Amino acid sequence: MAKGEIIAGFLAPHPPNLVYGENPPQNEPDSEGGWEQLRWAYERARISLERMKPDVLLVHSPHWMTQLGHHFLGVQHLSGKSVDPIFPNLFRYDFALEVDVTLAEACCREAAKAGLVTKMMRNPNFRVDYGTITTLHMIRPQWDIPVVGISANNSPHYVSTKRGLSEMDKLGKATRKAIEKTGRRAVVLASNTLCRWHFHEEPEIPEDMSEERPKDYNGYKWDMRIIDMLRRGETKQVFKILPQFIDEAFAEVKSGAFTWMFAAMGYPEIPGELHGYGTVIGTGNAVMEWDLVKAGLVGKRRAAKKPAARKTRRAA
Ligand SMILES: [Fe+2]
Repeated sequence: MAKGEIIAGFLAPHPPNLVYGENPPQNEPDSEGGWEQLRWAYERARISLERMKPDVLLVHSPHWMTQLGHHFLGVQHLSGKSVDPIFPNLFRYDFALEVDVTLAEACCREAAKAGLVTKMMRNPNFRVDYGTITTLHMIRPQWDIPVVGISANNSPHYVSTKRGLSEMDKLGKATRKAIEKTGRRAVVLASNTLCRWHFHEEPEIPEDMSEERPKDYNGYKWDMRIIDMLRRGETKQVFKILPQFIDEAFAEVKSGAFTWMFAAMGYPEIPGELHGYGTVIGTGNAVMEWDLVKAGLVGKRRAAKKPAARKTRRAA
């Protein structure tokens, strides 16, 4: 089997408001639109993903919380209705997704080998969380690419940020090994908001954009600082100040997806492409892309129809 590789990563946040604004047939509530700048950012990301033609999308979601260990969706077909407990007025979504169980099991095995507590989720009636669904819907509304869903272990919240994020680093590296061993061309998705200071009340019309703005000026400045560094490829520096960003901007990256994604990609020092930024009920959200093929960090074996065994240069 040819060695697999991660071809790209996306920062792909999951405010359910974005699905609500899209009015897809799967979502019950109707809207007049809203949050266009973020939704159009996702439209640009979709064009990139279409060009990449990955075998699988892997997503790490803060809203599938597991207190004990890191869990992986392990049922080939999952369907049902997912409701956001905070915004049930906006998100009541009929989902149906196909899981790449072979890869999920490989991720689970490699993470266990790395010393993490892991578990496969085998409940056929499992209700997939709105974070996983929103990210996947927004990046690929056709739902025609198999997925691997990974839970957010709560260690950054219940132990410490440092200890929790070191687990996410191990989880990311294990995910990469699993992808390489199973021969997949994979895209990794970090389902994270940046600054998470938010308003506590919705406007009467939730999609009334005259009410939408950053909740906190310092949080907004933090977001711009982090995005600016990511756009310049200053990955090391971002991870150096990440704990301070998490504390001062109440950033959702604390839950681990961002660290998991960068660890899986090998912390590439390449400029991320910002597709767009916008606030949702005051929180800061960026849709960003790191194309490892375009950056020359991984091979173009299938796209270029080169021999599968051709040597590839790894990310740093
Ligand atoms: Fe969230």
